[in-house]
This record gives sequence, C-alpha cells and structure tokens, in this order.
Amino acid sequence: MRIALISDIHANLEALEAVMADIDSQNVDKILCLGDIIGYGADPNACLELVSSRCSSILMGNHEHSVLGLLEFENLNDVAKKSLQWTREQLSDSEISLLNSFETELVVDKLHLVHSSPYQPLKWHYLLSDGVVREAMKHMKTNLCVVGHTHLPVIYAMTNSGDIRKRTGHSFLPDPRSPRENLSQEKPHRLRTPHPAVHYRSRFFAQRDRK
Ligand SMILES: [Fe+2]
Repeated sequence: MRIALISDIHANLEALEAVMADIDSQNVDKILCLGDIIGYGADPNACLELVSSRCSSILMGNHEHSVLGLLEFENLNDVAKKSLQWTREQLSDSEISLLNSFETELVVDKLHLVHSSPYQPLKWHYLLSDGVVREAMKHMKTNLCVVGHTHLPVIYAMTNSGDIRKRTGHSFLPDPRSPRENLSQEKPHRLRTPHPAVHYRSRFFAQRDRK
C-alpha cells in the first residue's frame, strides 16, 4: 500500500493543490493529514474542504487546537496569534464542528500518527534535538511514528545501542536488526523523506496574504 502524508498546510491553498496533483500522479492508495491545516495563510475554508474530502484520517494540530479555544493564544508568537484571530472569524459552525472531530493521535496501518510528538501530544513539543526525540520514541505505539509540526523533512531512528540517527533528504532503508526502525519485521519498508519538493506560485500566495 502507498500512503501519502501531508501536514502543516497552514491555509496555503496553492501549495495544497500542487501537492494533491503530485499525489494524484503517484498511484497513492490513501492520504493522511497530520494537522495544522489552518493558521498563517489566506484560505482556511478551501483548505479544510479539500483536506476533508481527500484524506482518510486527519489529526488536530496546535493551530486547530488554538482556534477552538483549547490552547491559549498567549503562548503563540504575534504572527500566529493575529492569523488565528482572523482565521477564527472566517470559520462557519460546521467547520468548527469539523475541527472538533479531529483526533489528537491515531494508529493507521501500523503507523502511529501525531502532530507534534507522541510524548505529551497536547504540549506540542518540537522534535528538534536528540533528547526530545529520544523521549518521544519511548511513547511510540507502533514501530513507526510520523509527525509534522517542525516543517522539516527528517527521519530519526534509534540504533540498538540507543543512539539517535538522523537522515534528511535521502531514501533510507531501515536496519532490519532494529525493531524501532521497521514497520514490519517480515518486510522492512523503505522510507523516503518528502523530496523532491513540489513547486507552486508562492508569490501569488504572499500577495493574497497582504490583502
Ligand atoms: Fe504545528
């Protein structure tokens, strides 16, 4: 089965449409969204509609959590705070209900899905250091966990000796001796970071945001 993972769309419709077109060209069986569909960008409504129509599972990100009033805006930077206040005004009651239906974490096809970290998912930790990654790995529900949130394409793996290995931008065949690196012991899976990048009209997006 081929699964496409998308995350941190942040109401950028042009980018989302470009990514969906790319996915459609790659014989993908299922699309999963790891959250933060809204926030920052100009098209929260259209992005919510497109993601909910195309993705079989959708997680809640910290931006959805904030718009629902479940996370204090005070913890966010000024840009995020301003955009979330504007975003909240754009959403209908049914879109708010849709956001409320998103799960914090899920297990789908032996993949543990969570927006930020399997450790304290609602604290929205960023997996940016070996220590934070090591703590997160203790809380994985399956051998493979996928997250968004940092906006960085990275694969982390733990060796049998407990070291954290980090790969960026290359295909990565897990070591069959390490259970944490295998989706299945019978058939190790090849993991790829989401490259090459999909291009879209970013200048158009920026101009729209200034309106
Ligand atoms: Fe996030």
